[in-house]
Amino acid sequence: MKKIGVLTGGADCPGLNSVIRAVVRKAMQEGYVVTGIKNGWMGLVQSDMRILDLRITSGIIDRGGTILGTSRLIPPLEEDQMKTIYENFKRSGMDAVIAIGGEDTLKIALDLHKQFSFPVVGVPKSIDNALSGTDYAFGFDTAVNIATECIDRLHTTAESHHRIIVIEVMGRYTGWIALEAGLAGGADIILIPEYPIDIDQVSKTLRSRHSRGKSFSIIVVSEGARIEGHTNAELGGTRRISNIGELLASLIEENTGYETRVSVLGHIQRGGTPTAFDRILGTRFGVRAVEMITEGQFGKMTSLKDNRVRFVDIEQAVRKHKEINPDLYEIAQVFGA
Ligand code: F6P
Repeated sequence: MKKIGVLTGGADCPGLNSVIRAVVRKAMQEGYVVTGIKNGWMGLVQSDMRILDLRITSGIIDRGGTILGTSRLIPPLEEDQMKTIYENFKRSGMDAVIAIGGEDTLKIALDLHKQFSFPVVGVPKSIDNALSGTDYAFGFDTAVNIATECIDRLHTTAESHHRIIVIEVMGRYTGWIALEAGLAGGADIILIPEYPIDIDQVSKTLRSRHSRGKSFSIIVVSEGARIEGHTNAELGGTRRISNIGELLASLIEENTGYETRVSVLGHIQRGGTPTAFDRILGTRFGVRAVEMITEGQFGKMTSLKDNRVRFVDIEQAVRKHKEINPDLYEIAQVFGA
């Protein structure tokens, strides 16, 4: 009988609990025992774990966040932390670990696998959809739906007040949320990290809308976007990576004279009930991850390709950020005038 561990690391997101639930269900079917490792890799640094059973994991598929807790550990870890993780893993009697997380959590999994042949299987989570090697990570669909609803709500108030509203969404390195939520919410301008913002072009587009009788506009911007001629360091922002929304709004007001407001959606995008898509994807990934342990597919991660669950090397997922879909970007340009 195998003993397997499961952990959730890095930023939380809706859908994590559906993976945990699926891992426990599938593991029970295989006759395995599942240990829940608390707060990501930190739980193995501190040996903080508990057995998971059907009772603990029932009724959680619709719950946001993670019943295991999470923490942010940034790779590469110190040598002694790596050793502690490995020693505590050995001492626990576990045969393998399922690491559910984004770039940082999976990079640590890969480092452990390389250094100690650590038997780990990854499950990709990212509201930003920033991981390569999979068409979608779970969490993204929920974030897009939340952001879309917010855009809809901000639309009506922008229209009533004849204002520009800048909506800042998450997405440090990639513009997936801005692009998809912007398209779904009918944004007039979508600005993403992949293309530096030309502020004169933005002002021109807004003026042209006004001249057509549209006295309001909706701009969706990713938190990681950059304005040409400005560095992100000068944007300020302590807890957040930058204040791009604020800077954009002040430059727009300066250039056009149009009254402008900013809404930063922030962690709202990561909270609450997962969509059906994310629940199902999390469930599919959880079941497959247990099968991968049975098959000995370590150092690999579950992945969705053409709506089929497969697996890829974790290395492939963390090597570079997932590029946005160029077709969607092209389509967005049709509406940006
Ligand atoms: O990596 C996911 C993410 O939600 C990013 O989009 C965002 O920049 C970051 O996490 C926020 O991190 P924290 O919750 O630590 O402030």
